[in-house]
Formats: sequence, C-alpha cells, structure tokens
Amino acid sequence: MEYHNKLVLAPMVRVGTLPFRLLAAEYGADITYGEEIIDHKMVKCERKVNEYVGCTDFVEKGTENIVFRTCNEERNRVAFQIGTSDAVRALTAAQIVCNDVAAIDVNMGCPKSFSISGGMGAALLNKPELIHDILTTLKRNLSCPVTCKIRLLKSSQDTVELARRIEKTGVSALAVHGRRVADRPKDPAKWSEIADVVSALSIPVIANGDVFDYGDFKRIRAATGASSVMVARGALWNASVFSPEDKVHWEKVKREYVRKSILWENDVKSTKHTLKEMIMHYSCLELPEGKSVIKSENLADIAQLYGEERYYQFVNENRFSAYGSRDELL
Ligand code: FNR
Repeated sequence: MEYHNKLVLAPMVRVGTLPFRLLAAEYGADITYGEEIIDHKMVKCERKVNEYVGCTDFVEKGTENIVFRTCNEERNRVAFQIGTSDAVRALTAAQIVCNDVAAIDVNMGCPKSFSISGGMGAALLNKPELIHDILTTLKRNLSCPVTCKIRLLKSSQDTVELARRIEKTGVSALAVHGRRVADRPKDPAKWSEIADVVSALSIPVIANGDVFDYGDFKRIRAATGASSVMVARGALWNASVFSPEDKVHWEKVKREYVRKSILWENDVKSTKHTLKEMIMHYSCLELPEGKSVIKSENLADIAQLYGEERYYQFVNENRFSAYGSRDELL
C-alpha cells in the first residue's frame, strides 16, 4: 500500500464496518480504516469464508460473533486497526487477519477510559519503549505495511520527538490526529502542530482533524504539508465528502448506506449506531425516524423503515445465484 497523496477514511468504532468502508471508497476514499478491534478479542477468532454473503469473516471461536468482516473488493485498501498494550498479543492478532487486509495500524490515540485502563490507545503515548516494542515486533514479522495513529503530546517538541522514534521502527506511515488527549472533539484541531511532525519526518504523515468539506483537503494539505488526509466525522455525516463533485444530499447517502448494510448483512447494532449518528447531526433522535431506528431489531426492520423492503427481499432471494456477480445485487 502507498501512503502518498491519499484520502483516508478514519477508524471509527461501530461505524467503520464493511458497508461504511465500501460507501466511503465509492465516493473516493483511497484507504479505509476499520474500527479499532482489541487484540484480546481478535486472538480468539478464526477465519471463515462466508460464501452466502460473499465475504471473509473473523468469528469468535465457539460463537457466531463476527468480530471483523471484509471482502475482496477492499483487499487492497483496508487497514485493520488494533487496540493493544502488548507486542506479542498484537502480533498474534495481526497474523490472523494480515493476509486479508492491506495494512495493520496500531491505535495510540484513544482517550476512552476503557482503552487507557487497559494500557491501550493514548496510554501508549507516554511509553515510547512499549511503542517501539510493539511496532518493531509487527514490522519484523508481518509482510504487510504497519502504521500507527497518534494524538499530539503536551508540546510540539514532544510530539516530534515521539514521531521520530516511531519513524525509526520502520513503519510505513504515521497518522496524526491534531488534538491532545484532553481535548474535546469540538476543540479545533491544531494543524500547525501536525505541520511540525510533517517537516521532521521523511515517511508519509496522514493529517487528521476537522476536515468537513472537499475544500478542506486542500486547506489542511497547505497548512500541514501532509499529502495524505484522514477524515472521521466529516465522512460519518456525509461520506460523499471524499468526492470532488458537490456533496450528495445526506438523505441519499444514508439510503445508500442502508442498502449496503443489507447487501453485506451488517451487524444491526453497527447500522443503528451509524444511522443514529447521521440523524443526530442533521436532525434529532426524538423525531419519528430516530425513534424507529432505536426500536429496530434487525435489518428487515431497517429496510422497512427506509422503504427498502423489496431490495431486502431481492438480495436475500438472490444471494446464491448472484454470488460471483455481486454487481447484479447493487
Ligand atoms: C473515532 N476515532 C477513533 N480513532 C481511532 O484511532 N480508532 C477508533 O476506533 C476511533 N473511533 C471513533 C469513533 C467515532 C464515532 C469518532 C467520531 C471518532 C477518532 C477519529 O479517528 C479521528 O481521529 C477524530 O475524530 C478526529 O478526526 P475528525 O473527526 O476531526 O475528522
């Protein structure tokens, strides 16, 4: 995988599952990150080819719990993001999935207490030896690119120092979210501090924070000097942010997301969560649409809510006959 000049869908828990990644790619995302998956969970998984849906699943052994679903269409652009606090466990998890994805990324920015208390995410930022151990172990043993995603440290100098140490591990790229651990999402991302990292490194830096329109790609590139840009909320609210043409109306994007969720049999909890996030941004969950999404129990309910019952029926009646010619179902 190449990291220069790329538009990147950011990792987003419960949002970045297969249908959302494919939607973003359809609008122009070159690299699509999956949601963070914790190594403890991944090491319990086995790979299963799912001929019914036409995808590859990583399923918790002894259960039907699908932890990660991917497909051939995204093989060359999907980055699998791990949450970890241990090099050996990270490697065991990565080895299970690495032949089915384009890259392995380590999350070093999550500020949630669940991550921090487990020594993962942003807890890694002040443990440079552990970072080194994790990244060099992955690099040495995997043939796919290894990357990581960090937040800003207390001072720009500290961030640059850490970034230099990370570069030395041989990672292929570094994503920098331009906020500190204590910052809130509404605090402006500090593009100038991303710029300091870009000018100190020779590997590609992926700039992340506050890109909401296609024009912002140009602005953040100019402000940071990074050629690649990563988008989270801007894509969640309207995945057509990646398209150089005018944004597609969010209602239409939402409908396309529903159809992709049906086609790829997405986990209904992920579909509901993503729809709720979209609705909350443009409207309000107290209105009938939001209430109905909350009440939905399965994809059939979601299909009915969005007037896609015929599509739902068609997809489910034609899965086996259309396998291998999936376009017929789109
Ligand atoms: C995130 N973010 C995130 N980061 C990460 O490294 N792994 C993850 O799984 C998640 N999950 C996640 C879920 C949701 C719903 C949001 C909004 C964000 C952080 C995200 O990738 C990104 O760094 C920040 O949101 C900043 O980018 P934007 O939103 O300003 O484009």
